[in-house]
Amino acid sequence: MGTLILKGNIIHTPQKDKFECHENAYLISKDNSIVGIFDSLPEEYKNEYVYDYGNKLIIPGLSDLHVHASQYVYCGLGIDLQLMDWLGTYAFPTECKYSDLDYAKVYYEAFAESLAKNGTTRAVVFATKHVEGTELLMDILEKHKIAAYVGKVNMDMFCPDYICEDTKQSIADTERWLKDTIGKYKMVQPAITPRFIPTCSSEVLKAMGELAKKYDLHIHTHSTEDIGEIEISLGRYKDFPSDGHVYDSFNLLTDKTVLAHFIFPTKEEMELIRDRGVTIAHCPQSNGNVRAGVPPIRQLMNMGVKVGLGSDIAGGYSVSIFRAMADAEYLSKIRWMETGKEDTYLSVPEAFFLGTKGGGSYFGKVGSFEEGYEMDAVIIDDSNLGTHLDNFSLEQRIERVIHMADDRNVVGRFVMGEKA
Ligand code: GUN
Ligand code: FE
Repeated sequence: MGTLILKGNIIHTPQKDKFECHENAYLISKDNSIVGIFDSLPEEYKNEYVYDYGNKLIIPGLSDLHVHASQYVYCGLGIDLQLMDWLGTYAFPTECKYSDLDYAKVYYEAFAESLAKNGTTRAVVFATKHVEGTELLMDILEKHKIAAYVGKVNMDMFCPDYICEDTKQSIADTERWLKDTIGKYKMVQPAITPRFIPTCSSEVLKAMGELAKKYDLHIHTHSTEDIGEIEISLGRYKDFPSDGHVYDSFNLLTDKTVLAHFIFPTKEEMELIRDRGVTIAHCPQSNGNVRAGVPPIRQLMNMGVKVGLGSDIAGGYSVSIFRAMADAEYLSKIRWMETGKEDTYLSVPEAFFLGTKGGGSYFGKVGSFEEGYEMDAVIIDDSNLGTHLDNFSLEQRIERVIHMADDRNVVGRFVMGEKA
């Protein structure tokens, strides 16, 4: 790995509400650990190779904390349906096809390429219930240098027969998959991934809590996403006040847990997940598309809950985390209007923070260029966004990138100290 030196216009958010910008500066890392940002190249590095990106922007790697790889194939379809109908009409029939590894290879390759092209360096990914397909996805993500937690999905009830697992088989398959994949990759690791409360028996949830503990694993699931979903969950767990309390009773809330959505939490549920150190994957585009709701992101952030962004493909149709930043701002403004201006909307640096350091923190010291952070970086060429039209500051340039960029603007990617 060794020394890596990038030169250009460096932008990051060590603090969530302020861009820190360094014009024409050097970003140096040694063995995947950031040494610092320097205005001129320190003497000791004079003989090292410098990746000189000229007037381009250098930003931290983007993190997607919640995405369904198998659903990439029908992105942009079916956004007229509400969550529970959407699952039965689109998600389940599509996911079923991933028993076929030839099929899986085509669409998992396309998915990984798309993430890479859009500047995502880290992701927390749902595969499907299939062990072999999930292992193939892990191979493909490793090959494309997407550092990821990947889940073989558990679903053993309340779903069509063609996709429903037998309870014992679901648990046995999960442990077989864990034994196959723990420690196998440099960038990819397995994560315990029960789909959500409606499709998981208490036996499966209990076993997943035990496996997470036994192998010290990350945990990824959906929570508190949709009124219909919560009614089903709490109809089954009558003594529990919330989805969060149900997961907690199965030891599924830890500082390695990421919960997607969290749209209708109770106050006690918010405090519970904060105290357990859980991270929330905020997926604004999906929340609107499947008519789930507008989550209280400002309240969660003010309480000290860890929050990052997710594309939730194919609930969302854009894999771009820039788009998730812009949509998070937009949805927060709707929330501001709907709460009588009580929940203040996200600032631009805050949205950027959520997609970089906020989400990156789920992976450790990731998503910022502070000393000791891992070297995940993305190079942005914004010359087609009219940078020449005015003497834009770096703050203005990154603001335009967040709102206007697409994969054509992403021209380089470094992950865990390696050039991708
Ligand atoms: N809840 C359970 N499964 C899913 C899924 O595939 N997408 C979303 N958005 N929510 C879910
Ligand atoms: Fe999802």
